[in-house]
Amino acid sequence: LAAFAVLVLALVVTGGLYALLAPASTAQEDEQTKAIEQGHQLFLANCSTCHGKEGQGTSDGPSLVGAGAAAVSFQVGTGRMPLAEPGVQAPRVKVLFNEDEINAMAAYVASLGPGPAIPSAEQLDYADANITEGGEIFRTNCAMCHNFAGAGGALTKGKYAPPLTGVSAKHIYEAMLTGPQSMPQFSEATLPTEDKQAIIAYLKTIQNDPPVGGLALGSVGPVSEGLVVWIVGIGGLIVCAIWLGWKSS
Ligand code: HEC
Ligand code: HEC
Repeated sequence: LAAFAVLVLALVVTGGLYALLAPASTAQEDEQTKAIEQGHQLFLANCSTCHGKEGQGTSDGPSLVGAGAAAVSFQVGTGRMPLAEPGVQAPRVKVLFNEDEINAMAAYVASLGPGPAIPSAEQLDYADANITEGGEIFRTNCAMCHNFAGAGGALTKGKYAPPLTGVSAKHIYEAMLTGPQSMPQFSEATLPTEDKQAIIAYLKTIQNDPPVGGLALGSVGPVSEGLVVWIVGIGGLIVCAIWLGWKSS
């Protein structure tokens, strides 16, 4: 009889615990399933002509299996996707979807295969990041394409690295995570969170601070600076030489 009582008690306790804990987790799962379902509907309506009905890719667009939520958040959040017309590079244009819709499509693409997730609020908090270090990391890893002041630059075959002014912290982080187009991917292993935060802090600082060295000359570096030295400097010397020659004759 005692064994029976223990069994009944155990069943009651298990049932009670299940009733208590289960609904909470399934409600969350339901929400997730709903977001994925909504994302799939949006995807079918706006993206599947190029990326395939199940994101498997077509001749007009790459497979998105394993692209991850971060790639969708970056591409759609900067207006690059849905691509309006084929070209060498998807331009940054007007964003066509709201935050919820973008997150739903991101959840759907994430469900296709593992990929980088959308960075968390903690990862995006760069308030305590080291700006000087960020500048060094930026010059080592990014400046060869984006210019040392983040002004952007031309690449081969009509491609370009866009200017980084006015880009949100989230999109800077996601660009590093996903490496759009000819940009390399900077995973958490190659560039840990603190380094990414430092880069963001550096970019935000040079954006908000006016140039201290006088005229920035478009911040395009030695070419424009050299041109000014050439015209103003050499030009001035020539004028001096002519003037001296004219005086002595
Ligand atoms: C007209 C065709 C077209 C449409 C429509 C389109 N895409 Fe794309 N998509 C492309 C092409 C081509 C690329 C690769 C070239 C590039 O990245 O610029 C791409 C790249 C991407 C990438 C980057 C993949 C990676 O591996 O990093 C993502 C994410 C993406 N698209 C999502 C979407 C989503 C979401 C939609 C719908 C809202 C969409 N696309 C609509 C053609 C399209
Ligand atoms: C090999 C050249 C190259 C390097 C190195 C590179 N990028 Fe890029 N980056 C690109 C290209 C090309 C694009 C445009 C991709 C597109 O439009 O699909 C881009 C886009 C971006 C964007 C999106 C800007 C926008 O207007 O939405 C950000 C942010 C960015 N890069 C940051 C970085 C950072 C930070 C680093 C260094 C950690 C870096 N990039 C290194 C080539 C590069």
